Amino acid sequence: MDVKSDLVLILDFGSQYTHLITRRIRALSVFSLCISGTSPLSSITALNPKVVILSGGPHSVHSDDSPSFPDGFVDWALSNGVFVLGICYGLQLIVQRLGGEVRVGQKQEYGRMEIEVEKSCGIFGGKKVGDKQVVWMSHGDEAARLPDGFEVVARSLQGAVAAVEDRGRRFYGLQYHPEVTHSPEGMETLRYFLFDVCGVNAGWKMEDVMDEEIKAINNTLAPDDHVICALSGGVDSTVAATLVHKAIGDRLHCVFVDNGLLRYKERERVMETFERDLHLPVTCVDASDQFLSKLKGVVDPEMKRKIIGKEFICIFDAFAQELEQKLGKKPAFLVQGTLYPDVIESCPPPGSGRTHSHTIKSHHNVGGLPKDMKLKLIEPLKLLFKDEVRQLGKILKVPEPFLKRHPFPGPGLAVRVLGDVTEGNALDIVRQVDEIFIQSIKDAGIYDSIWQAFAVFLPVKSVGVQGDQRTHSYVVTLRAVTSQDGMTADWYCFESSFLKDVSQKICNNVRGVNRVTLDITSKPPSTIEWE
Ligand code: XMP
Repeated sequence: MDVKSDLVLILDFGSQYTHLITRRIRALSVFSLCISGTSPLSSITALNPKVVILSGGPHSVHSDDSPSFPDGFVDWALSNGVFVLGICYGLQLIVQRLGGEVRVGQKQEYGRMEIEVEKSCGIFGGKKVGDKQVVWMSHGDEAARLPDGFEVVARSLQGAVAAVEDRGRRFYGLQYHPEVTHSPEGMETLRYFLFDVCGVNAGWKMEDVMDEEIKAINNTLAPDDHVICALSGGVDSTVAATLVHKAIGDRLHCVFVDNGLLRYKERERVMETFERDLHLPVTCVDASDQFLSKLKGVVDPEMKRKIIGKEFICIFDAFAQELEQKLGKKPAFLVQGTLYPDVIESCPPPGSGRTHSHTIKSHHNVGGLPKDMKLKLIEPLKLLFKDEVRQLGKILKVPEPFLKRHPFPGPGLAVRVLGDVTEGNALDIVRQVDEIFIQSIKDAGIYDSIWQAFAVFLPVKSVGVQGDQRTHSYVVTLRAVTSQDGMTADWYCFESSFLKDVSQKICNNVRGVNRVTLDITSKPPSTIEWE
């Protein structure tokens, strides 16, 4: 991507904070990318970064399998005027690989610590010798002897090396994490480092990103190429389609599938946004009967997911064929709303069983298209984080409430109705309960503080009393969580008056429900959805 900014490249050695560094730097309007710390030298040099940051990580430089930057990296940085900053493990790598010594710390330092400036230097801006600040430390090892040319510029109050520099060779190191909010002056330090020390040019603006992507799309496509896009009603596919539409107009052909598993009035609501607000060319396919007849009697959650995935493919296939007949040629490209966290390379802690974020999320991709359709991919959001996609959406005039929508799973209400989704009026019940719950959340002004909220239908009946009548009706549960990325989540703590109101509204308005429960489990041990 040809943005008007110098590139700051992060080499990832597995710290949980690595992506935060990328985001913090982008927040300073500087373009930043993250690749695996063990990438070959050619991958690093090809990106031509002005600054390279070596991230933290859970390893010790002394263990046999500890990851490191490739041979030749230091010489390349020195001869190309590249600035290098090591953070935590990154600092220790620099010390060790440049001829210093790292030892197991006498006092391991975890959590908030005070450090003191020992020598005035660019990275701490106007700070004077003796100035103190609180930082977030998380290390066992420490730098014992610095390589020639390096100087200590700050120490922890326990005496450990907290910051180093070799101004002549443009190498810097911080033993703590400036990127986390627990280091209150960390952002300031990154700013001084990038702008004062490295002289980085800030030019990462969402408007430029949009213009560049539009240019790139037009360069990739021949003037008579057609493109298809499956819209889910979510933020990512909508923003991706809107961007591509801006680039190629009605050579984009979108499809939105009503699979009978959508929320209350969802089809009408999203179609209105697509057509009225965004002027997207969308075909709405009503395939409810097709999906629901295939799901009849199916109770196994994995089975439900598989059936839904397969039906989606059949529908896309039919859509593409119809399009081919209409246009007289096959659509050549497919737009996907893949985001940066899905493609980012990372180096998770050894023994964690994790590989790339890609792998973790793959089970969530229900859509997808048959391989033999041979569509090439356009992924215009693949360098953006979710909040950046929202910014881009705003520029593209996607309505703000739409951009703030909670995530919704591809298999829809099939993962929110336990058991057979076609049984009785389960889908209808869950839709009504969900609508009341979400509307109450919006009315209470807490929608944006919650990451995801929804209702679940339980195929369980219990005895109740309504009016003078005994009832034997269904149980529903309400789920609301806070989260960063859906990988882990905490349940949201509602005020009791809110819960009282919402439960009353549900029982008074939804026939067939006489009990409302609240899910108070975090993830782990549970998951967010109920299946
Ligand atoms: P779980 O329930 O696994 O879900 O904790 C984590 C997040 O992923 C969403 N989810 C999906 N999203 N397709 C999607 O696009 C899916 O098949 C899918 N399944 C779960 C879920 O809503 C939550 O936000």
